[in-house]
Amino acid sequence: MSLCCENIRYTELAERYGTPLYIYSRAALDEAFAAYTCAFAALDPLICYAVKANGNLAVIRRFAELGSGFDIVSGGELARVLAAGGSAAKTIFSGVGKSEAEIEFALRAGIKCFNAESLPELERINAVAGRLNLKAPVSLRINPDVDAQTHPYISTGLKDNKFGIAMRDAEAAYRRAAALPHLHIVGIDCHIGSQLIRLDPLIEACERILALARRLAAQGIGLQHIDLGGGVGIVYDQEDTPDLAAYASAVAKLIGGSKLGLILEPGRSLVGNAGSLLTRVEYVKRNENKNFLIVDAAMNDLMRPALYQAYHRIEPAETPSAAPFAADIVGPICETGDFLAKDRTIAAQAGDLLVVRGAGAYAASMASNYNTRPRAAEVMVNGGEARIVRRRETIEEMLANEKACL
Ligand code: LLP
Repeated sequence: MSLCCENIRYTELAERYGTPLYIYSRAALDEAFAAYTCAFAALDPLICYAVKANGNLAVIRRFAELGSGFDIVSGGELARVLAAGGSAAKTIFSGVGKSEAEIEFALRAGIKCFNAESLPELERINAVAGRLNLKAPVSLRINPDVDAQTHPYISTGLKDNKFGIAMRDAEAAYRRAAALPHLHIVGIDCHIGSQLIRLDPLIEACERILALARRLAAQGIGLQHIDLGGGVGIVYDQEDTPDLAAYASAVAKLIGGSKLGLILEPGRSLVGNAGSLLTRVEYVKRNENKNFLIVDAAMNDLMRPALYQAYHRIEPAETPSAAPFAADIVGPICETGDFLAKDRTIAAQAGDLLVVRGAGAYAASMASNYNTRPRAAEVMVNGGEARIVRRRETIEEMLANEKACL
């Protein structure tokens, strides 16, 4: 049996494009986007795909075609959205450290709003907008202080995290924003973390943010939208992930009669399971206590196992002839942390192809050149067709910006 992406066998893709290779299914992107639009239909939300999950231009282009807006965190991501034909008017700008140049770029492009994360940032946005003789649309990211119950590195809504404005400072921050002449307050925002498995923290955050919106309205500060961020988890292993319809109906109940528009910023749940990383076994190495499958993909291609002890399902692309055995699946990088999986029972021998699942999100977008490894190519599959959407980097390209002068 051969595993396929849509109608193309992975072995065929490896022959054509080499390995390691990221492979995305266009149908799976469409399906994931439709799951959001269907579940939330009654609320008619603006879905702002979080570009950081996968910034490939073809991925952005597809979501733009489906009507998506975008959540960006840098001038670079804005440039990606514009280059791929995304609409600035549907783009929101999150992140704690926006530079003056990035704010100016976004204002000139005409973005939908900034999600401002601190008082100094509000002052800076006001100053840049003043210089350009504009009013900047701002929404304030509020930290609702709920425990998202996820890995600490990807939890963002707790008091001790660097993100957002603390709930107890929120009203004062809105009053300050209202007093600044070059700001136009449009909304309220939160994002409590990523790969959330439970729904209740998302709903609790929504409740807290809405209660704040009501307090603001009572003070004469009206808002146009509420933005609940991203965070919905996906199945990597056996997780019981939040049901979008249940999420939508809970939010609908809470938003109720208010005229607030809804924005969502999903990243992982739109792309994570639409992508795989294809890798070839270079060697099978049997040490005294352990077996290793040494493959040609490494932590520079998929950081998640090393960084978050994340689990990714790994399957042979073709039915293996060898008997299964326990092994760590590791890359060629000179770090003990360079593993894709630990203690898996897998049947594979040198030369076999392995499909690493869940590699559509935070894989290519977090890749690096560590150990001077060129970044892998990316391919988009649509039915029986495959297109290179990022060609493999060359060694010359990796060296191009450096000079051996002292
Ligand atoms: N909005 C904001 C403001 C965010 O910071 C994030 C993700 C998202 C939306 C999208 O969240 P999602 O729907 O993808 O959970 N590299 C980590 C994940 C980091 C998430 C950072 N922020 C990982 O590989 O698990």
